[in-house]
Amino acid sequence: MLVLGIETSCDETAVALVRDGREVLCSLISSQVDLHAPFGGVVPELASRQHLEALPLLLEEALRVTSLRWADIDAVAGTYGPGLASSLLIGFSSAKALAFRLGKPLCAVNHMEAHIYSMFLNPECPLPSTLGPVLVLVVSGGHTNLVRMPGPGHYQGVGHTLDDAAGEAFDKGAKLMGLGYPGGPLIDRTAQGHAVGPIPFPRSRGKAGDGAYTFSFSGLKTFLRYYLRDHPLSGSAMELGMLAASYQEAIVDALVSGCDAMLLPGESLAAVGGVSLNRTLRSRLKALADQRAIRLHLSAPAYCADNAAMVAGLAGTGQGIWGDAAFALDVDPSLEVPG
Ligand code: KG4
Ligand code: ZN
Repeated sequence: MLVLGIETSCDETAVALVRDGREVLCSLISSQVDLHAPFGGVVPELASRQHLEALPLLLEEALRVTSLRWADIDAVAGTYGPGLASSLLIGFSSAKALAFRLGKPLCAVNHMEAHIYSMFLNPECPLPSTLGPVLVLVVSGGHTNLVRMPGPGHYQGVGHTLDDAAGEAFDKGAKLMGLGYPGGPLIDRTAQGHAVGPIPFPRSRGKAGDGAYTFSFSGLKTFLRYYLRDHPLSGSAMELGMLAASYQEAIVDALVSGCDAMLLPGESLAAVGGVSLNRTLRSRLKALADQRAIRLHLSAPAYCADNAAMVAGLAGTGQGIWGDAAFALDVDPSLEVPG
């Protein structure tokens, strides 16, 4: 089954063509980073206007680079939430219109479920049907969750953040350090090659009464604000590198501790979402998996951050909401991680 995927939940316009859930024929992303950078964050009105301009061009480009025709497409999949309402509307309405015009089935996809599916786009990852139980760390700009996946399409939420998401902690921390936007990649780069310093960043975390694991990142950001007030940056690259490495370490520590605490015997470990691009997080998760003698499944770097291949891929396995139910859906900006 050849699925056309459309993703516009935040500030990336993305289109992909994926065959049978695994074979990515093309995955195109038009980034809006430069558009929003001067504002230090995503401006929703600018984002939706840019989606409207970029989407038709990307759709045509996808057919051109694959030498496919509209008639070759078997289904259209679109993200219907979570995300910015005005951004979601552009992509999901377009997916509906295209499916209707082509006379093909429509699949409505939960963006977070698509992030989880992104691990299967990595050729090294076993097929969903043979993977076995896995604990998935879902880390993006708006979400930080631990989800048990006993089998394909089955989810049990076992961890969440009480306040900020890990990606938010990276983005807000980078702003406070004067690094700019988006913060995750900038902190990752600034910290590279620098040792962690003796700054006692808080590492708040633990199990809640119901057994779920809770993360908390807002104290970390507040600590950084007061630290910078009391220790203004001198302009030394060494000092900034140490600060970025220490702040990053506190976030990564919390995420890895959550995985360590919640892993069950027999489970493998996975990490998905934009923050799973973080090099320190990837190597610390690898160390944890090696220590437990279990497999680690990471999304390929091209599919960690927002993309449409994960949307088309998920739909290609028959998951998501199909048919009349999909056409009847409206966008849902506050849709949750499944489970
Ligand atoms: O999954 P994603 O692209 O979009 C959402 O669904 O939110 O995640 C975006 C988040 C941003 O907070 C960004 O700063 C973070 O992923 N990110 C990183 C890195 N690359 C992107 N965080 C840490 N290290 C990175 N290398
Ligand atoms: Zn995302």
